[in-house]
Amino acid sequence: MTSLTPPPGKLGLPILGETLSFLRDPDFAQKRHQQYGPIFKTHLLGNPTVFLKGPEANGFVLTHENQYFVVSWPPSVKKLLGPLSLALQTGAVHVQRRKLMAQAFKPRALADYLPAMAAISDQYLERWAVLETFTWYPELRNYTFDIAGKLLVGLDQASETDLGHWFETWCEGLFSLPLQLPWTRFGKAYRCREQLLNGLEALIRQRRQQGDQGSDALGVLLRARDEDGQQLELEELKDQVLLLLFAGHETLTSALASFCLLLAQHPMVKARARDEQSQFVGAPLTLETLKQMTYLEQVLKEVLRCIAPVGGGFRQVLETCEFGGFLIPKGWSVLYEISLTHQDSELFPAPEQFDPERFSPERAEDRGKPFSHVPFGGGLRECLGKEFARLEMKLFAAKLLQGYDWSLLPQDLTLMMVPTPHPKEGLKVRFHREPLQGVHR
Ligand code: HEM
Repeated sequence: MTSLTPPPGKLGLPILGETLSFLRDPDFAQKRHQQYGPIFKTHLLGNPTVFLKGPEANGFVLTHENQYFVVSWPPSVKKLLGPLSLALQTGAVHVQRRKLMAQAFKPRALADYLPAMAAISDQYLERWAVLETFTWYPELRNYTFDIAGKLLVGLDQASETDLGHWFETWCEGLFSLPLQLPWTRFGKAYRCREQLLNGLEALIRQRRQQGDQGSDALGVLLRARDEDGQQLELEELKDQVLLLLFAGHETLTSALASFCLLLAQHPMVKARARDEQSQFVGAPLTLETLKQMTYLEQVLKEVLRCIAPVGGGFRQVLETCEFGGFLIPKGWSVLYEISLTHQDSELFPAPEQFDPERFSPERAEDRGKPFSHVPFGGGLRECLGKEFARLEMKLFAAKLLQGYDWSLLPQDLTLMMVPTPHPKEGLKVRFHREPLQGVHR
């Protein structure tokens, strides 16, 4: 290994490296991959960093967690999430906490969440039918936050509560300079973290006093015990619930907005998806019926391939290792790339085309190589809320397609990529009721 060198690329200016180009240029990685190939080095946010793209690279990073790599987040995210958050825990503690928290996302818990998810979806869909023209992205943010608030901590209309307002300010500080002053974005977000934690503590104490701990995720976490009978302490419970509120909100809003955008742009796909839904009109939307919507499943996979809500993941290098004939030195960072792997024409022919058929059983382009289609990451840190997210996306899409139709109003549809992809002008649409006629199955 000693004769190997780090991958090609430039480390850029002293200290700053190539950070400014990275933040400003949406094609930063793509340009460098064209020049250097699937693996290159750069210098970002104070660290030499190796970018890796492709299924083998994803597999290499994701299956060596805690061995060669360990999760790493920018300082602002670390401080705002809090030290006891699953996203920051590592090693044996991480594995043990994941098991405990996974109890809130088991099929039984998911089935319990369905009625509330469906009721909130109906309220929003009817509201949009009354509004007729509106900007969808902020509405979708409220919708996913109301669902997260209800199903995670039992709050009604959470987006309109103090918790909802504090949460928005907290989110705005996540990717900022960690300067804790009253007027900085980070300072304001940090103050909101404290208010959020106080709010969550009040909710938790109330639950404990009531005796009935409820069937939402907080209830499941309050009852959850690990193999040694240990449960989460109050301080940790607050950080973990805050993480779930965040993780379940930002990414899902992006995914739903992309679904609405891509279907409006591809009327044939929308028509076929509506056609499939006509078989389910009047049927209760259970986990079982949702599973039978196989074309919709393909559409949702293609949405997550085309516009992945999480573009990639940073890790710190724990031990010097080798990949693709290059050295990756200890102490550097790596970024495994989800979005650019999804755009690889060897894995997904004509990757720029929105084509749900690529996930049909005949083509199954995601089955060719492991770690090709990785919207939820993989390995020890695979998205904990993956099934929750898939459920919410499918339920939302099924209800929307069964009862309503929509079209885009003139606007700039450029995708803004930070913190998650969303249309520049917020997705302005015309929306109306258009109930499907059921067909007997
Ligand atoms: C479409 C929606 C979603 C997408 C695309 C998504 C994507 C991801 C990805 C890629 C990761 C791994 C990041 C890495 O490797 O560094 C991740 C982690 C995580 N996600 Fe999601 N996510 C979604 C929704 C959710 C929801 C709804 C929840 C919870 C309610 C959730 C909870 C988490 C948690 C807790 C982690 C950290 C897991 C760990 O570190 O062990 N996510 N997500």
